[in-house]
Amino acid sequence: MMLLTEYRTPHLTVPNRVVMAPMTRLRSHPDGSPTADVADYYAQRATAGLIVSEGIWPHSSGQSEAWVPGLQTDAHVAAWRRVTTAVHDAGGRIFAQLMHGGRKGHPRARIDGTLPAGPSAVSDDDVLHLIDGGKARSLTPRVMTRADIAAAVGHYAAAARNALAAGFDGVEIHGANSYLIHQFLADNTNLRTDEYGVTHIGRMRLALEVTEAVVAVAGSHRTGIRLSPGNPQFGMREDDPAPLYRELVTELDRYGLAYLHLIDNDDYPALADLRPRWRGTLIANVGENRPATTAAAAEAVLRSGRADLVSFGRAYIANPDLVQRITLGRPLSPIREDVLYGCTAEGYTDYPAA
Ligand SMILES: Cc1cc2nc3c(=O)[nH]c(=O)nc-3n(C[C@H](O)[C@H](O)[C@H](O)COP(=O)(O)O)c2cc1C
Repeated sequence: MMLLTEYRTPHLTVPNRVVMAPMTRLRSHPDGSPTADVADYYAQRATAGLIVSEGIWPHSSGQSEAWVPGLQTDAHVAAWRRVTTAVHDAGGRIFAQLMHGGRKGHPRARIDGTLPAGPSAVSDDDVLHLIDGGKARSLTPRVMTRADIAAAVGHYAAAARNALAAGFDGVEIHGANSYLIHQFLADNTNLRTDEYGVTHIGRMRLALEVTEAVVAVAGSHRTGIRLSPGNPQFGMREDDPAPLYRELVTELDRYGLAYLHLIDNDDYPALADLRPRWRGTLIANVGENRPATTAAAAEAVLRSGRADLVSFGRAYIANPDLVQRITLGRPLSPIREDVLYGCTAEGYTDYPAA
């Protein structure tokens, strides 16, 4: 299988083309430091060609939910160092996903207790985990000022610096799935009339400024970005994603990034449309809004030439030895949905190898 072959570029060498997709699992301490279980969890999955960590907030103003980890403080860096060491000791590679919630959040779901801010005063329909154990919908966000935007760009750069200090092999900028950068790109969440809205270049401006800032800190070879063109998750609306994403991918291509991580969509086949505009490494995710990615689906995408690597999300939750199972043709174990999120090892590090 092509999926099990090595992939090598001057910047990225991985022993197989199976990537563990970023997945929020809400297993951090109240201060946003990952727990010891997090190190075990990723080390168990270190035979992936590459692991992309769960989304991590760059700064407390970007925390979307309780128990999501951060990369802001020295304590965070020390705790993530234990995670990256465990992965490296097990022979793996791991990038940190920088995930700023933007409008998504609630004062009772975040350490600093503030009202979240996004591009415009439009709320998201996600139901969030609160610190007190309850759940609530996002509130209508505060509108980000230019100073807020400049601060957020600086927070991504600072978090990228912290990620490298913590031993991550690189960072992935989360520009997908309804988080801050996607909120600036989408039609219904960005109603701004300033230079961060209106036109394609206006909507793309934050994505490009964050990329520029992270590349300046981490280098292009240690910077990836994730995009989900047309993903309607949590009330996002993009009426005609193709023209904007073609421009965005063309602009991003100039940076020579480590990779573009692209989530395909039934309504807009992003992989087929955007692959010709991207000269670097492309990681496909074929599963969003579809059944969980299978080895057969991943292999078909690789063979079609639309991607170099494929990320697996849900399959990795219950199958720490996913690469070995694919190699041996073993069946995959099902996920226990009731313990998907939570602060314990149950449903997290207790899935056995085949
Ligand atoms: C429990 C869970 C948490 C997720 N958290 C994130 C996240 O933090 N960042 C992100 O970019 N995508 C996140 N995703 C989306 C996955 O990375 C992936 O795109 C999705 O599960 C589809 O791939 P699959 O069919 O292989 O599961 C999450 C998905 C799941 C199931």
